[in-house]
Amino acid sequence: MNFAVIGSGGREHAICYKLSQSAKLNKLICIPGNAGTKKIAENIIANISDFEMVYKIIKEKNIDIVVVGPEEPLVNGITDFLKKRSIRVFGPDKFASQLEGSKAFMKNICKNNNIPTASFGIFDKFNDAENFINKSKSPIVVKADGLAAGKGVVICKSLEEAKIETKEILNGKFKSSSKVVLEEFLKGEELSYFVVVDKNSYHFFGSAQDHKKVGEGDKGPNTGGMGAYSPAINLTDSLEEKIKKKIIEPTLLAMKKLGHPYTGFLYAGLMIIKKEPYLIEYNIRMGDPECQVLMMKLKTDLVDVIDLATKNDLNNVKIKWDNNGCITIVLCANGYPGNYVKDKEIKNLNNIVVDEYNQIFHAGTYEKNNKIFSLGGRVLNITCSNQNLEKARNQSLTNLKKLNWNDGFYRKDIGWRAIKKL
Ligand code: AMP
Ligand code: GLY
Repeated sequence: MNFAVIGSGGREHAICYKLSQSAKLNKLICIPGNAGTKKIAENIIANISDFEMVYKIIKEKNIDIVVVGPEEPLVNGITDFLKKRSIRVFGPDKFASQLEGSKAFMKNICKNNNIPTASFGIFDKFNDAENFINKSKSPIVVKADGLAAGKGVVICKSLEEAKIETKEILNGKFKSSSKVVLEEFLKGEELSYFVVVDKNSYHFFGSAQDHKKVGEGDKGPNTGGMGAYSPAINLTDSLEEKIKKKIIEPTLLAMKKLGHPYTGFLYAGLMIIKKEPYLIEYNIRMGDPECQVLMMKLKTDLVDVIDLATKNDLNNVKIKWDNNGCITIVLCANGYPGNYVKDKEIKNLNNIVVDEYNQIFHAGTYEKNNKIFSLGGRVLNITCSNQNLEKARNQSLTNLKKLNWNDGFYRKDIGWRAIKKL
């Protein structure tokens, strides 16, 4: 089978890695890809917002199935666009993508289907939002309705701060958002829960926790994710049952009733409070860097999973995972998440053995004259699997030392909550 993966991050490299292990894979292209995907796929440079161009490439390369990595093309309707042209796509349609693309849409799905979530209000006028804030307790969470590249959520310590943030959003801080969602602050433990979904069924697709803050001890500004580990330690059988019955199944049923059954990966960002799950957010795709650890743990052929999902035949697959602990540590360019250095050569990649238990998934990298250079803020994902999370982390840190890249930095404490409890 011929696959195309759309995107250029660590997530897409990890998906390409797993697809490329399948005996059923014939051709793999990545649009646009990075220096890591280039080793296992044909990278084709194109603007992934230009759906006509993506379609042209897919026809030319005789692709059977397209896997869409990032949320933006999904929210903008790439699935509808390609499906209309008879291309098989793994990912939700534009309507269902509102689960991530509009926080107001997601919150209304929760409200209308009794899905546990933080209490909230949705506003497009400042005066109404201000009245709501005046009646709220701090901290209060202010969210831009639409996609905001991870910058749309602010946890405000005071009501005054919440008013300022709200005003900025309603004045057009994010092009995607004319509305604001104001939310009760939930205090608990976060958990990322993944499922793979087709029109007829769904399967558990791994659990993870990521570390969004730039600094050790989870301090400092938010990032796209500084590292992740799997499995999440707080996922018990009884909690999982609640997540399925109270959150995942009512959501999938609601989307069906709305005439847009969900298909693709669905990522539920949850807050666990006193053993009860609350939905914080939905992502309509794999997590990045969570995908990197899940692909290392997945034992089932990913080509099969995606092939069967796009035929609505997922019922017939048994998804298997290894029992290892897996950690990915993100190597960032100095300055990230602010202005960061670019075009810095990464020299020692060949010092690190890559095998079933050790992988380096590339994110912001490119290749020039057989040398690898940094491009993005998140550069590499040093991913290791071992008997337990502590051993996996030590192995990642050893690999990072061998890399010895002076233009970047990383957190040494990824997985600290889980490792403390070992
Ligand atoms: P989101 O983009 O909705 O995932 O929000 C980003 C991060 O903000 C989440 O991963 C949480 O850590 C935090 N967050 C969002 N909403 C809430 C909430 N209602 N209570 C507490 N923390 C929240
Ligand atoms: N790691 C968080 C995300 O992918 O949204």
